[in-house]
Amino acid sequence: MEGRSRVDLFEYQARDIFEKHGVPVLGGVVATTPEEARAGAEKLGGGTVVVKAQVKTGGRGKAGGVKLAHSPAEAQEKAEEILGMDIKGHTVHRVMIAQGAKIAEEFYFSVLLDRSNRNYLAMCSVEGGMEIEQLAVERPEALAKVAVDPIVGIDEAKAAEIVETAGFAPELQAPVADVIRKLWTVFTAEDATLVEVNPLVRTEDGAIVALDGKVTLDENASEVRHPDHAELEDAESADPLEAKAKANGLNYVKLDGEVGIIGNGAGLVMSTLDVVAYAGEAHGGVKPANFLDIGGGANAKVMANGLDVILNDPQVKSVFVNVFGGITACDEVAKGIVGALEILGDEATKPLVVRLDGNNVALGRQILADANHPLVTLAETMDGGADKAAELANA
Ligand SMILES: Nc1ncnc2c1ncn2[C@@H]1O[C@H](COP(=O)(O)OP(=O)(O)O)[C@@H](O)[C@H]1O
Ligand SMILES: [Mg+2]
Repeated sequence: MEGRSRVDLFEYQARDIFEKHGVPVLGGVVATTPEEARAGAEKLGGGTVVVKAQVKTGGRGKAGGVKLAHSPAEAQEKAEEILGMDIKGHTVHRVMIAQGAKIAEEFYFSVLLDRSNRNYLAMCSVEGGMEIEQLAVERPEALAKVAVDPIVGIDEAKAAEIVETAGFAPELQAPVADVIRKLWTVFTAEDATLVEVNPLVRTEDGAIVALDGKVTLDENASEVRHPDHAELEDAESADPLEAKAKANGLNYVKLDGEVGIIGNGAGLVMSTLDVVAYAGEAHGGVKPANFLDIGGGANAKVMANGLDVILNDPQVKSVFVNVFGGITACDEVAKGIVGALEILGDEATKPLVVRLDGNNVALGRQILADANHPLVTLAETMDGGADKAAELANA
């Protein structure tokens, strides 16, 4: 894929960027050893802090990667517990010592590039915090979704619409809208494709503060316009599967969900991500686990490399192969899949849903039907395939 590639930031990096653009955040210090964690807590005044695992995945709180400490000595202890922990396949190499907030209420806000509608989408809820995924599935009406025109952006009127739709109490609407506009500045000034704050909190003394931040940057823009972003990428903790994929010439980006996705061509892979995310809402909220574009030459070797990368991601529960036969016709792709499963043998254990279309599609489907591999399900349409893959991931 020559197109876009993305860089997810660590929370502490998002915190720094927020601060740069005037978004209210609390003090934070990064530490890689328990001793540094203790020193960090002292630097923050010696009071209550929160020790937070710095890994590029959500759900750290639930996994035990966010712990309260009432003294520098306790911060050292908690850091000792958290450093080296494995959170959804990510090893914790760093923690952030953050000032402890007295939380009165937790809210949710995000703005992202909505590829399917070619505009931006803001999402906001007065019920933020660790259960937001569940909320999105069980009570979607509690999550306000407001389209943002790319030309106008989040101006005063749009921010007012967002807080109103989300149902904030009247006295909170102005201060929250103000923070939302600053988050929009982060989004545009940094060429982000996602800015998410969960939780955005109201503290007991009435301040609105971003306590957690997720920022995804558009790497292409970054080379030209943000040379400083290069520093934000760290090879050391980069995903080992990403490195493996890169070595095999595959364009792979690890995401947070359960459905592995293989497609050819950036556009098709992007829309497959959207369709899987949508289908997942009906199947326990499963989400795409990655982005893998095998490009034009989807022969058996390329397919085997791609499947190898995806099947080795412990988070992946099912795989959706969505290929449009062009220069490489569908029968070649089908041979690739059958060949890949042969190469992988017993290592292939996860169900595969395959949807083929385009050049030589009938022959491609025939080859897969003849192979009759127990792990493979054929899908007629992209929506049907996404739905089946989401269902299998949730089984
Ligand atoms: N600085 C902080 N002070 C007090 N509580 C915090 C702080 N940071 C996080 N928390 C609490 O921990 C929860 C989880 O932390 P968060 O940073 O959102 O991690 P994750 O989203 O990965 O679980 C938050 O919802 C909040 O209740
Ligand atoms: Mg969070």
